[in-house]
Order: sequence, then structure tokens, then C-alpha cells
Amino acid sequence: MTRLASRLLQVRSDFLAQVDDGRLECPVEEAAGLPNLCYTSPDFYALEQQSVFRDNWVFAGFVHEFDNTGDMRPVELGGQPLVLVLDEAGRIRAFHNVCRHRGARLVEAARNGRKIVCPNHSWSYSLGGRLIARPHFHGGERHDVNQAECHRADLVEVRCETWHDWIFVNISGTAEAFAHCIEPIERVLEGYDFGSLRYAESLEFDLDANWKLAIENFIEPYHVFSCHPWLNDFVGMDERRAPGFDGKVLSCGYRFQKADPARGGQLPWFPNLPVDKRDRGDWFVLFPNFGFEIFPDQVDVFVVTPLGPDKSREIIVLYFIGEGADAKNYAAARQHVIRNWNELNREDLGIIERMQAGRRSESFDGGVLSPYWDPVQQHFARLVAGDIAAAVEGS
Ligand code: FES
Ligand SMILES: [Fe+2]
Repeated sequence: MTRLASRLLQVRSDFLAQVDDGRLECPVEEAAGLPNLCYTSPDFYALEQQSVFRDNWVFAGFVHEFDNTGDMRPVELGGQPLVLVLDEAGRIRAFHNVCRHRGARLVEAARNGRKIVCPNHSWSYSLGGRLIARPHFHGGERHDVNQAECHRADLVEVRCETWHDWIFVNISGTAEAFAHCIEPIERVLEGYDFGSLRYAESLEFDLDANWKLAIENFIEPYHVFSCHPWLNDFVGMDERRAPGFDGKVLSCGYRFQKADPARGGQLPWFPNLPVDKRDRGDWFVLFPNFGFEIFPDQVDVFVVTPLGPDKSREIIVLYFIGEGADAKNYAAARQHVIRNWNELNREDLGIIERMQAGRRSESFDGGVLSPYWDPVQQHFARLVAGDIAAAVEGS
């Protein structure tokens, strides 16, 4: 057993001992959230990268960044260097981004090519990951282009699925079918014409907090009256319902009385939107770290990338409908939405970082939960714990 493996096994057993008090299964009024070590321990962070971020469908990129055959982009997920490639059949595929010869990382930056050529000894791979040539492999000028031989060293492919503009990968290959995981979201999205959506803007925020705090905050509306009182004027606390959950999906939503300039008030709506969707906002998390919101005039993606136990990066990507995304006459309306997201998120960042700071207190052990608002926090904790418990030695 390597030293790293034994350290990870130690933190895994420390964690399982701490949640062995029934907090994950008991009624919410007696439950607690995840213990502090889940937010502060470098070993737990490493363990989580190897389990949660490899065993689930994890967001990896945007379809709109792959226009031409041969477009490729490196991405690092679950501590693994991967490369996403648009192949000849128009499919986005994912491979471990490492040459099968001496292990050089193959693709260092987004680029386009007809094949993937390793800079080290020029072994070349097709866009489908097939090794196609090894120059001078059998000695000077004795190249290997024997397909049968070459194929023994093809790139290692990773499960990859696209859903609307979003790319997901499952590194371990063990997650349930993507369609099954996403089904609870699909059900709610019936009637929205996603074909009319256009990418408009990306916002990026660095935060001094664990990724889980940002996701836990994103899904719950309990903090709205206190942290975003102005948003409480749009939909009051008595009109908000508690978040729900179904498998890997967390969800929340509301009806609004009157559209707001930042939500449905000024930009074009989804075409032929069913009546029951015209006064709705809904938001979701696909565990672990992909969130998105949908309103009559926009979809906003929210992804939190872990960078360390107490460091993460959030991206918020805004999509509008048809010409709402780029027409000049909607520029002011778009700016209003963008400003709104910036302000809202800055308010959240402050509170998320305070929760991170509070995780250093030895008096805190996961907290006391609201039986109305917080069942989703207990479920989120269960999902994390499930993956950690399933991680085994050497994984
Ligand atoms: S390391 Fe890639 S060709 Fe040798
Ligand atoms: Fe918030």
C-alpha cells in the first residue's frame, strides 16, 4: 500500500466514524451536515477527487467550444488530465490525455488538428483515439504502421455524454447511465425549447471556500430573506418551497407574481412556452457540482470547480433565447441580467467564505438543520458519504 493510499484510507475511516452517529439517515430535526474535515482536510479533498469526481458524471466543458472536426481541449477532472475531442463523426469524446508510450501529456492547450501527435517521439493517434503510427519504432526508418500492432496502444477512452450545451464525463466508468441520472431534471424541463438557446456571457469568481459550500448554498433558498433581501421582494419566503431531491438531482423552484427585469421581464422568452412555465423559475444540481437555473427568458449554468480544500472557482454561464443573446436592442436588458448575477453572487460569496471560516471551529460538527428547508443538505451529505464509503483501497 502506498503512503498516499494509507493516508486516504485513514481519512476515509475518520470520516465514516464521524458520520456513524446516524446523522445521515435520522429525521432531519436530529440530523447534522457533513463534519468539518470534509471542508478543511487536504486528505479528504484528495479522497473526494478520487471518488466523488471520478465515480459520477462530472461537467467537463461546453459543446459550443467544439465547432470543427479535430477541435480538442485539455481538461483536468478528479485529478486526471483528460482531453476532449470532436471526432470525424461529429461526436465529442474524452480520453486520458497521456501518450501510451512514455506518458507525455498529449494536448496542452485548446487547438485543432486532424490527429493527435505526441511531441515526444511523434506517435500519432486518430481523433477516435486509435494509435495510427509510430515512426522509427523498430529502428531507424523502420516505422510501425501495422494497425493490428498499433491498436494495442490506443488512447484510453473515458465515458462522455453531451446534454444540450454541456459535456459530462465519468472517469471510473461505474456511474449509472447518464440519461437515468438526468431524468428527474428532464421531466421538469418538458416544454422548454432548448434549441432556441444561445450562449451569451460567462462570469468567473474565485472563492476561498470548499466547493460543497457553494453548491449547498446554491440549492437552498432559506438564506434569501437574510442575504438577498431585494430578491425576497421578487418572491417572498412564504411563496418559496423547500428544495427536493431525487437520486443525484437536487432541485428547487418557485412561481413569481410578476416578471422582473432580471428574470423574464425584458428579454425574449422560449418560443411556445406552456402557460404553466411562464411564471416559473427552477434550479437544479446534478451531483456533484453542476447547477443550472431556468426562467422564461434564460438558462444560467453554475459550476463550482474544486481547487483545494478551501479554494474553488465558480463559473456562471448565461444563455438567452434567440436574438436575446446578441441583438443590439437587447444589450441593456442583457447587461441588467449580468449585473444582477454579479451582485447576487458577490453576496453569496461573502456568506460562503464565512461558512468556510466557521468550519475551523472545533465546536461545529455539521450543524443543526431546519426540518423544513434542510432535508436537501442531509441528502447532499448522504451522496458525498455514499461515494466516500464506496471508495476502496487502491482506487
Ligand atoms: S512519449 Fe509520446 S511518443 Fe513517446
Ligand atoms: Fe444566494
